[in-house]
Amino acid sequence: MTLDERLENVAVIGAAGKMGSGIAVMIAQEMAKLKLQPENSDKIYRLYLIDINEKALDGLRSYMKAQLTKVAEKSTVLLRSLYTAREDLVENRQVIDAFVDDSGSVLNFSPDMSVARNAHMVFEAILEDEKIKIKLYKKLKKICPDHTYFLTNTSSIPISFLDEHAGLDGRIIGYHFYNPPVVQRLVEVISPKAMNDELKQLGSQLGERLRKKLVPSNDISGFIGNGHFMRDGLYALSELERLQRTYRQVGALYVMNTVSQNFLLRPMGIFQLIDYVGIDIFQCILKVMRTHLGDARLRSKTIDRMVKLGVLGGQYSDGSQKNGFLQYEKSRPVGIFNIRKKEYFTINDRWKKKMDGIIGPLPDGLVSWKGLLMDPGRKDRLHTHFTALKAIDSLGAQLAVSFLQKTKAIGEELVKSGVARSADDVNAVLTNGFYWLYGPINEYV
Ligand SMILES: NC(=O)c1ccc[n+]([C@@H]2O[C@H](COP(=O)([O-])OP(=O)(O)OC[C@H]3O[C@@H](n4cnc5c(N)ncnc54)[C@H](O)[C@@H]3O)[C@@H](O)[C@H]2O)c1
Repeated sequence: MTLDERLENVAVIGAAGKMGSGIAVMIAQEMAKLKLQPENSDKIYRLYLIDINEKALDGLRSYMKAQLTKVAEKSTVLLRSLYTAREDLVENRQVIDAFVDDSGSVLNFSPDMSVARNAHMVFEAILEDEKIKIKLYKKLKKICPDHTYFLTNTSSIPISFLDEHAGLDGRIIGYHFYNPPVVQRLVEVISPKAMNDELKQLGSQLGERLRKKLVPSNDISGFIGNGHFMRDGLYALSELERLQRTYRQVGALYVMNTVSQNFLLRPMGIFQLIDYVGIDIFQCILKVMRTHLGDARLRSKTIDRMVKLGVLGGQYSDGSQKNGFLQYEKSRPVGIFNIRKKEYFTINDRWKKKMDGIIGPLPDGLVSWKGLLMDPGRKDRLHTHFTALKAIDSLGAQLAVSFLQKTKAIGEELVKSGVARSADDVNAVLTNGFYWLYGPINEYV
């Protein structure tokens, strides 16, 4: 079966969630584009959006319409070429509305799994729980035809494990979109031991169709993305525990967050990133990795305490940031959680100045992540920045150099242990999926 044929009937399970809804938007667009080709005029396209949360499915209806409108507004030139036969569509607005109608007409919302019974391709993006995922796949195996392929968005569960426990006979692939899937170009593709060649090919063709950058990862829990991020986060947490003896927990957290953002030139500080992902999600992925890899080091007391206190980070449904290690106002950190007192400490100018003095200055010729993002001379500027950093004798510079070394060692270990096939793949995941300006395996340290 070709990709075009498979795109005639698709199901997304967990469709009302963060990842499922994004995947649904992309597939709806591709279906609508196919439907508009004259040779497909007699075909029926169906996209089944399935979620156990019926209330969330209601919200998904308006979300899909808004997102499909947004996408259509950005691609009027392409849409005009698709609608050349429709002389009645004169204004751009009419073309946009026609596309929103056409893509909307393929959608079917349901809490009932059995509507996936004719799906040629099923995207699964339900919560990260292997028991629940296996139960779901066992059900799907009974419902769906033998030719159905399953694409799981799991962030950490080995695909072979799901395959073997649900008896899918190699009909499953790890297709790990990043959040938000419509915007993020990266997809980590994980092929389990038993996967057949047709599915492998389908994964490549789909990536091309969705204009994604595919990076292969071996089927080892956490894969490349979380394999790196979890260990990077754990390093920052261990540094926090060490530094808090001197600067107290609130001060130590400020130091590590500031150093990881401003000195390492990352889009956000490490604790901001953990908040963004969700502290409970961070804990959950650590647990999956700890179990599958048998590595007791994949745990953090600080994370466990935060989850126990119910301080979880993550996002509200409008995308704004919830409080976690940091307190946010309009997505900017304004406070730091004091774990002992169970309250936020407000960052004031005097305290910030004192802490910045303790951290020490950044190298001269200040550069920022944002400033370097589009800079064609970025490589040289990064080289200058890190060379200068190594020459500075300050707390911030020392912590940054140690962090760079650790982050590089984590990346190299991913290659050595066979998670990643090459240093380039590790670097591709961190630069594309996490928006780093440089890969962790670099010549700066
Ligand atoms: N959020 C991220 O940043 C991110 C990034 C990459 C991968 N992932 C992975 O994607 C998957 C989904 O994550 P998410 O963040 O979108 O989660 P989410 O909690 O936002 O969404 C999960 C959805 O699945 C639904 N659901 C739960 N059990 C179900 C079942 N048995 N049948 C049907 N629907 C069910 C829930 O109602 C919910 O709407 C997870 O495996 C996660 O590890 C998440």
